[in-house]
Amino acid sequence: MKYDELITFQPIESIIQLRDARKDVSARKHVETYVISQEMAQRLSDVVMPQLQYDTPYDNKGLLIVGNYGTGKSHLLSVISSIAENGAFQPLLTNERVKAAATSIAGKFKVIRLEIGSTEMGLREIITTALENSFEDWGISFRFPEPTKSYESKSSFDKMMALFHEKFDQQGLLVVVDELLDYLRTRSDQPLILDLGFLREIGEICKDLKFRFVAGVQEAIFDSGRFAHVALSLGRVKDRFQQVKIASTDVKYVVANRLLKKTPGQLAQIREYLQPFSKFYGHMNERMDDFSELFPIHPDYIDTFDQGYCPARYPNKAGNGRTRCPGTSGWRYPGPWKIIICQRDY
Ligand SMILES: Nc1ncnc2c1ncn2[C@@H]1O[C@H](COP(=O)(O)OP(=O)(O)OP(=O)(O)O)[C@@H](O)[C@H]1O
Ligand SMILES: [Mg+2]
Repeated sequence: MKYDELITFQPIESIIQLRDARKDVSARKHVETYVISQEMAQRLSDVVMPQLQYDTPYDNKGLLIVGNYGTGKSHLLSVISSIAENGAFQPLLTNERVKAAATSIAGKFKVIRLEIGSTEMGLREIITTALENSFEDWGISFRFPEPTKSYESKSSFDKMMALFHEKFDQQGLLVVVDELLDYLRTRSDQPLILDLGFLREIGEICKDLKFRFVAGVQEAIFDSGRFAHVALSLGRVKDRFQQVKIASTDVKYVVANRLLKKTPGQLAQIREYLQPFSKFYGHMNERMDDFSELFPIHPDYIDTFDQGYCPARYPNKAGNGRTRCPGTSGWRYPGPWKIIICQRDY
């Protein structure tokens, strides 16, 4: 057996762009290829779908999809938004439980997708501009009041949704935002407090209107020390948002089932091959399933990655506080594992 027989190398997009999901071909591909662990299936069925649906009264909140770099936030946002927008994609979901739960949202939304890039606009301006532009595309004329002429946003959203339902009486409106944390990180104290105030209002609006909001963030912002200085504003946002975490177990499952999918015969052969090494590694025997399914990747690599650093990182010469791992040079593990290459900035 050769290493290349263990790696299913369908060309993959290394980074998913949320706005690609506007195209049917990309949306279909994202739904079809989305691998769902049991834990993720549970989170999607018990948290995400009930939060998004609007047919049954629920204490609906905004949703934050939380996951480290490259763990599949954009892919998940694309899957959720594609199904919400087009019921034809629901049967393509790869997990039966999620497929059934998705009935509550499938095809029931008009969707607006946003990736926030580098900008000095405030969050309110970003979201309201995107809403106004989409409304214009849909032939609905609506303008939010100037920020200096309104002291709250809820009544504007009430009016906006009333107009929306004149045109789309059977549908809800879903706004999906990627890279929200990257944006919030760029904001200084006072603007950040305004952004968080607006985010709280958005979360509150989800309760009473058929308006839903989902954003992808790279860390659990409510627990992050990074925003400790605005803890009070953040606490208010927390009450109106539900976080859904992509865990390292989900990533392991995806890697084992997308990149490193093995036949039962290959798994048995790998098990036999690894067995003699187990006496050299603590707990390897108990975790033999993980070790075999992920082979030739060492399962701890994914946990290490999840902690946000790679074992061989070293300080960046630019002295900007970031660290960088050694590009394509890679490093070697003893025993059955060969080379693992990491090219990310941390
Ligand atoms: N559950 C999954 N099923 C299939 N492929 C996945 C899954 N999760 C992630 N991937 C793949 O991993 C890669 C990275 O995913 P994605 O771009 O969504 O991550 P991300 O968390 O948005 O990353 P970043 O933090 O860099 O924005 C993509 O090729 C994506 O298709
Ligand atoms: Mg992303």
